[in-house]
Amino acid sequence: MMFPEYRPRRLRKNETIRRMVQETRISVDSLVYPLFVVPGKKVREPVEAMPGVERFSVDLLVEEVKEAHGQGVRSILLFGIPEKKDKKGTQAWVKHGIVQRAIEAIKKECPEVYVITDVCLCEYTSHGHCGLIDERKKDVSNDPTLEFLQKTAVSHARAGADMVAPSDMMDGRVGAIREALDENGFEDIPIMSYAVKYASSFYGPFREAAESTPQFGDRRSYQMDPANQREALREATLDLEEGADILMVKPAMPYLDVIHLLRQEFTLPIAAYQVSGEYSMIKAAGQRGWIDQERVMMESLLGIRRAGADIIITYFAKEVASRLK
Ligand code: PBG
Repeated sequence: MMFPEYRPRRLRKNETIRRMVQETRISVDSLVYPLFVVPGKKVREPVEAMPGVERFSVDLLVEEVKEAHGQGVRSILLFGIPEKKDKKGTQAWVKHGIVQRAIEAIKKECPEVYVITDVCLCEYTSHGHCGLIDERKKDVSNDPTLEFLQKTAVSHARAGADMVAPSDMMDGRVGAIREALDENGFEDIPIMSYAVKYASSFYGPFREAAESTPQFGDRRSYQMDPANQREALREATLDLEEGADILMVKPAMPYLDVIHLLRQEFTLPIAAYQVSGEYSMIKAAGQRGWIDQERVMMESLLGIRRAGADIIITYFAKEVASRLK
């Protein structure tokens, strides 16, 4: 007997059927738009290493959020750059800190936007590390940092944040933040944990944007070794046990295997952060005409979705939203 010949091409010939059988899709519903807020008024400064990305003062940030929302973006991730920095990163948790003011302004003008905040000290410390420094060891001291992360997360929730995202990578921070949120009446605020965060060179352009380059040493004592995949399971398991609601992998494109692995091993939603370096590479090559920027952008996001991410944090969010519209 002759078997009928299977021809995959049959389902590709017509746009309608091609879309019907598409396994993965990009929807604005799953995108988060990261934004940088700086002190001052009427400030809007381009980030040189990230074409198309700007840093805004609170007043203009609100305009940007409104515009993005108009395009269909539903959720943002906020990073703050304070007026002054000190050893402890005090400006991270003060009542009228830069992020706290930004949250209040956005919630007043654009309450439907879902506001996520990055919880970390590196933008606020004079040394640029994500935690307090043990001067003798010249390294971050893990446990004493937890209290400051708790304060920061609670101050964001008080200002009106919908969700907090700790990115500092101190051990035990998710449990500590969960406890502090609960004690202060914020049981309903979820935690999206940067559970699997590699010590990556792809963060380069971000450090220009956030002014958070470490003044000495690097982050390898608290961020993960890019060579390790199994370690991702240990980090994710810890955060899950401590009460994380969403697990994040960061960066995205060089770690698609890790996203896939977490998708197989955990039932929690998975987020992936397409970081600054990933964005800048696509933009730079696109500007030179070496690649088709729009198509590479969509393909890169599809890859991240296919690997298993539910949520994608991407500087392309607004652009994608307007394209899908
Ligand atoms: C640090 C933080 C970083 C990023 C998000 N949160 C930088 C770092 O760990 O050095 C990087 C994001 C990006 O590169 O787009 N709290």
